[in-house]
Amino acid sequence: MKVLNYGSLNIDNVYSVEHFVRGGETLSSSKMEIFSGGKGLNQSIALAKSGVEVWHAGAVGESDGEFLLEMMKNAGVDVRLVAHTAGKTGHAIIQRDVNGQNCILLYGGANQEITRAQVDAAMECFEAGDFLVLQNEINEIAYIMEKAHEKGMKIVLNPSPMDEKIAGYPLDYVDYFLLNEIEAGDICGCQGSGRELLDKLGERFPGAKIVLTLGGDGSMYKDGDLVLEQPIYRVPVVDTTAAGDTFTGFFIGGLMRGEEPKTALDHAAKAAAIAVSRPGAAPSIPDRSEVE
Ligand code: RIB
Repeated sequence: MKVLNYGSLNIDNVYSVEHFVRGGETLSSSKMEIFSGGKGLNQSIALAKSGVEVWHAGAVGESDGEFLLEMMKNAGVDVRLVAHTAGKTGHAIIQRDVNGQNCILLYGGANQEITRAQVDAAMECFEAGDFLVLQNEINEIAYIMEKAHEKGMKIVLNPSPMDEKIAGYPLDYVDYFLLNEIEAGDICGCQGSGRELLDKLGERFPGAKIVLTLGGDGSMYKDGDLVLEQPIYRVPVVDTTAAGDTFTGFFIGGLMRGEEPKTALDHAAKAAAIAVSRPGAAPSIPDRSEVE
């Protein structure tokens, strides 16, 4: 069994600031760093580090994206399904404040140039029972979901960043949702506590397993009548970027290796805690040996 992650690859330009810049304000940053990132790339690296076979599909610009592929290859990700386009690689402008919190501005670039022909070719490499992991930073997501469903692949959706396109995706095909409270509220069109959101999502998608992340309050998992709660591991926060991606990769990777959901959640929480204690997106993701 292997996993196809069809997802974004970004160059993260990270600026260290006292506070996030406000409208009309000009603000100096104390440091500027460039990291490999993108929710897709981060999740592929986390999946690979958790110990499963990962193929990443997506697109980078032919002149500026090579270092992202090197980073993934070094982590053990198969990148043969990543296309090269004539334009620019996607990038993110990230402000990181003194508390390690961030705000992110995205430019999609090559991430928005996925073609249906590429998707068809990529799907040839997978079979029923393989996993497909998706976030919401590339185009053609509905088409990718249709093709994966036809194949009998297990579909994992992290609907982040949330936007109006999500409602047009065939969400009934999703086997696993990993999402935060805002995303959950938008998808089920309701507000409420974590438990209420979880129950509403469970009613709306009775066949899906749901992981709801609650920031400092940890996460909850629902599969039918089974509900699990997972606290976070508290550590000094350096940079929260990619913590959620690390959690997603280790949780799904753990399940694929046969871990019980409770164990996979615990490992995912530990991996995310290690990631927030380090700077950057992909470079902050730990190895499985560190997590265990
Ligand atoms: O989840 C973190 C990621 O979101 C960053 O690496 C950035 O590229 C954006 O995609």
